[in-house]
Amino acid sequence: TTLSRPGASAGTASAPAATARTARPRRYLMCRPTHFEVSYAINPWMDPAEPVDTGLAVAQWERLYRLFRELGHRVDLIDPLPGLPDMVYAANGATVVDGRVLGARFRNAERAAEGPAYLEWFRARGFATHDPAHVNEGEGDILLTGRYLLAGRGFRSVSAGHAEAQEFLGRPVVGLDLVDPRFYHLDTALSVLDGEEIMYYPGAFSAGSRRVLQQLFPDAVLVDEADAEAFGLNVVSDGLHVIHPEPAAGVAARLRERGFRPIAMDLSELLKGGGSVKCCTLEIRE
Ligand code: ARG
Repeated sequence: TTLSRPGASAGTASAPAATARTARPRRYLMCRPTHFEVSYAINPWMDPAEPVDTGLAVAQWERLYRLFRELGHRVDLIDPLPGLPDMVYAANGATVVDGRVLGARFRNAERAAEGPAYLEWFRARGFATHDPAHVNEGEGDILLTGRYLLAGRGFRSVSAGHAEAQEFLGRPVVGLDLVDPRFYHLDTALSVLDGEEIMYYPGAFSAGSRRVLQQLFPDAVLVDEADAEAFGLNVVSDGLHVIHPEPAAGVAARLRERGFRPIAMDLSELLKGGGSVKCCTLEIRE
């Protein structure tokens, strides 16, 4: 049919470099890390004893912000609030599908105030919003493929929050159980590259969830532990460019084989909070 892309329908594990990839312009929401610090520890990456250079975090974040705009994407900004050092991780702020905004409800008290702050940003701009009753940490745990909402649970978001996401956003939820505390949010263990093309680190998931992923996404890129630990799954793809943390060199090689254009970013300071490229980026799907 005229809709099939060359290379996309072959079903082979190694898609040829000739695969016609196209970037689709996106709209993102970001939050400058003006108040970023590591003053508490709610994931294994955070160590309040380790110094953080907030100025360097801002400079690294600015480069990501600039890159998105150079690639032709629209980036909106939400004002950072003092006392909310993790607010830079905008992915956790909401889940936006078809212009409908499912607010976040955080598990940890330290981040609780971020949920209403992000929701208010959307409400003030005329989006249809839903204030959630159950814990869901936004796109940190809820990732949209062409067909599904892939939803992580085990450390932060809960099943009742997934059900709320399905009801409000009207897309089928596939619940996935995270079992390794290093990969506490789904977006540290799995990334959506384009439509039904994903990549993930199998070791982050329960045996049953691995079988589910294998059934739904037989051609997925499987990432090894070293690349996962380098936050190599915490990427943002526009369908062609995939922005990834610099140390995840293996991921970049795999993506290039598949016809994507990997772009490395140094976000070392933001890694001290347990986040990287994707964590800093909330997609607004209108
Ligand atoms: N310190 C933050 C937390 O533990 C990091 C969040 C990272 N965000 C993400 N989407 N994985 O909640």
